[in-house]
Amino acid sequence: MRILFIGDIVGRPGRAGLAAAMPELRERHAPDLVIANGENTAGGLGITEKTARELFDLGVGVITTGNHVYRHRDAYDFLDRSERVIRPANYMAGNPGRGHTVVPVGDRRLAVVNLSGSVQLRAARSPFAEADAVLSKVRGDADAVVVDFHAEVTSEKVAMGWHLDGRVAACLGTHTHVPTADARVLPGGTAFISDVGMTGSRAGVIGVRREQAVQAFRTQMPIKFDTADEDVWINGVVVSVGDGGHADSIEQVLMPAPG
Ligand SMILES: [Fe+2]
Ligand SMILES: [Fe+2]
Repeated sequence: MRILFIGDIVGRPGRAGLAAAMPELRERHAPDLVIANGENTAGGLGITEKTARELFDLGVGVITTGNHVYRHRDAYDFLDRSERVIRPANYMAGNPGRGHTVVPVGDRRLAVVNLSGSVQLRAARSPFAEADAVLSKVRGDADAVVVDFHAEVTSEKVAMGWHLDGRVAACLGTHTHVPTADARVLPGGTAFISDVGMTGSRAGVIGVRREQAVQAFRTQMPIKFDTADEDVWINGVVVSVGDGGHADSIEQVLMPAPG
């Protein structure tokens, strides 16, 4: 089973860039399933039913999210309804949406789990204990598991990789929007990367127009942020999962959006 995982898609430029790149990504990597982090799809912050549907129409099978998931109130009902959009499992139990989903991939079943880091991000419960709880829940229902660990600091992400090594096919970091150079299969058979990166404009500051972001840092005053739109890149990884539910390989995808 080959899984293409796309890092945080930022705004319309990110969505358009992915749409333009999809034919080439399909041809080059032949994914059986595409997973994408969609927490920044709607205007750079949050997700709506419309932006989620746009990703589904591109062939994305499962959408993960993170700290911006509840930005748009009108999406709450959609998050409750949709079985293919997930939010961090370790958020408040009563919050809209679900923390994991199980989808068929060919004749196998893949569980996709979303977790939030608890260092410099708000989470209701420890992602480590939550990971254990979700894994015991999906045991028997899934042949392999992929985790999107949406977290800020590399130490927590690397620790999660070791915590899950041998128990999941992949533990893939998101949220910082900057790809890291540490993609590898850990000794127990778990594909790991601290951060997949983002799918959006490389001309800005993690998705925001650079002059606005720089001004915010220079002045420490509130600045209205717009989504940067030049030089869009696709950041992702391709994970090949063997029959035993362990990863055979992880390959980083860093490509400019065509056109
Ligand atoms: Fe993000
Ligand atoms: Fe985030």
